[in-house]
Amino acid sequence: MAAVNGSSSNIQGVPTHVKSICCIGAGYVGGPTCSVIALKCPHIKVTIVDINPVRIAAWNSDVLPVYEPGLDEVVRECRGRNLFFSTDVDAAIKEADLIFVSVNTPTKTSGVGKGFAADLHYVEASTRRIASVATSSKIIVEKSTVPCRTAASMRTILESNSTFAADGTQISFQILSNPEFLAEGTAIRDLFAPDRVLIGSLDTQQGKAAANALSEVYENWVDRSKVYQTGLWSSELSKLAANALLAQRISSINSLAAICEATGANVDEVAHACGLDGRIGNKFLKASVGFGGSCFQKDILNLVYLSESLGLKEVSDYWHQVIKMNEYSKERFARKVVSTLFNTITFKKIAVLGFAFKKDTGDTREAAAITLCKYFRQERAFIAIYDPKVTTNQIMLDLTEPGVVDDAEAVRKQVRIATSMQDACDDAEAVIICTEWDEFKNASKQEWEAIYKAMKKPSFLFDGRGIVDTKMLREVGFKVHAVGKGPVIVDPVWA
Ligand code: UDX
Ligand code: ADP
Repeated sequence: MAAVNGSSSNIQGVPTHVKSICCIGAGYVGGPTCSVIALKCPHIKVTIVDINPVRIAAWNSDVLPVYEPGLDEVVRECRGRNLFFSTDVDAAIKEADLIFVSVNTPTKTSGVGKGFAADLHYVEASTRRIASVATSSKIIVEKSTVPCRTAASMRTILESNSTFAADGTQISFQILSNPEFLAEGTAIRDLFAPDRVLIGSLDTQQGKAAANALSEVYENWVDRSKVYQTGLWSSELSKLAANALLAQRISSINSLAAICEATGANVDEVAHACGLDGRIGNKFLKASVGFGGSCFQKDILNLVYLSESLGLKEVSDYWHQVIKMNEYSKERFARKVVSTLFNTITFKKIAVLGFAFKKDTGDTREAAAITLCKYFRQERAFIAIYDPKVTTNQIMLDLTEPGVVDDAEAVRKQVRIATSMQDACDDAEAVIICTEWDEFKNASKQEWEAIYKAMKKPSFLFDGRGIVDTKMLREVGFKVHAVGKGPVIVDPVWA
């Protein structure tokens, strides 16, 4: 167990028992992760800081800035006890034995590596901040997903700027890599019972001491056998590799979905048959309109850039293909909508159900719905969007972002945010399911009948997630297309 009170002991300047944690970055990763640490370690003071005062105010309110099942309960239990949200970054850094760096690392949009490399300026700014305000030795933990060897740059910055403690001893910093493997929508469950906790450190006495101190924090609720200590670079690369392998499975099944549609095979049956092989397994084989989220695309692009920088062109091409297949999946689906609606959707009303990149999250980063809406808009359709969690503001922000669109006013004229499934579908010619929300999956026959009644005829339904009962919907009267289930158009009797 970690020490509860009293001064933390240390090995050559490395805190060995963590009593105070600072998390820089109150986003989708830092917020839930450190809230769970606070819950499971009541003897540790956890302060989550952010430069964004609006975000911090939300964390301190009844409406948290991140929607995650179970998160409200966790925060309610420990906020004000040993969990604090603050904009006072410097004070939290000074007080902490251990600092998680959980800031965003988006794909660069300009300069060298544009479109591929990770933008590390938030990581660097946090590192410099730590170096300039720390008055005691600390363990610095990379939580954000970063390119391999980022820890080396952090170390250089910290060592070049470190000062002396009040007692005249030089402050030392030990850097660890501790990537977060939580998935959005199941973050709390994943944090409560992780498959593994990975801690990478330098192979030195201090490095190992720091890794043990962090391990001790997790061991308050995670079995020691699940905490895996590795070298720093292996840990950094493992996060990119795990996401690349998961995304690769989705692109693989989506490529097979295209073959299914062309041949009459059913992708769910194919995935199930393949997944029964214990070597393959059944996870991440659900065909879809395409994967989204803040991680998969970003991390693979990162891997592509890394491989290319290392002169490994074939490796880089190999991973790039996973992204290209994802883009192809989204475009193929959008084209199917247009071709099925008699090759034009101009001035037609299209209902989009679901805008989040997956169910049980309000996050829209890289959501397939953004790409589809852009495509439908370019075809001059009117779009009504309904999502149970994503706010109107967020949807409009995503659809009017520079780079997505150049005419924000036109978007506002073409897009309407609906308040329910029924509201979105009224008078529409086609319904497009973009997110696998339970509300859509579990809608009853009566609900679909009411929706069908209010739509133009023929009424089309395109299931980008393979969640609806196609047989039942065809009985209702819909003309249904589901990803990976073909053939679709068998004229003259389609359904
Ligand atoms: C992912 C990783 O799963 C997680 O370990 C890592 O820490 C962060 O990146 P996340 O992006 O939150 O998590 O969600 P995930 O469940 O992996 O889904 C990503 C995308 O793939 C979603 O758009 C989802 O709908 C899609 N997906 C997932 C499929 O299309 N088919 C599947 O079989 C699984
Ligand atoms: P992730 O999904 O990786 O958690 P988010 O974008 O949700 O990414 O959250 C990252 C958070 O980090 C943002 O709220 C941002 O304001 C914060 N942040 C970025 N740079 C700094 C910094 N130098 N100091 C404090 N917070 C920062």
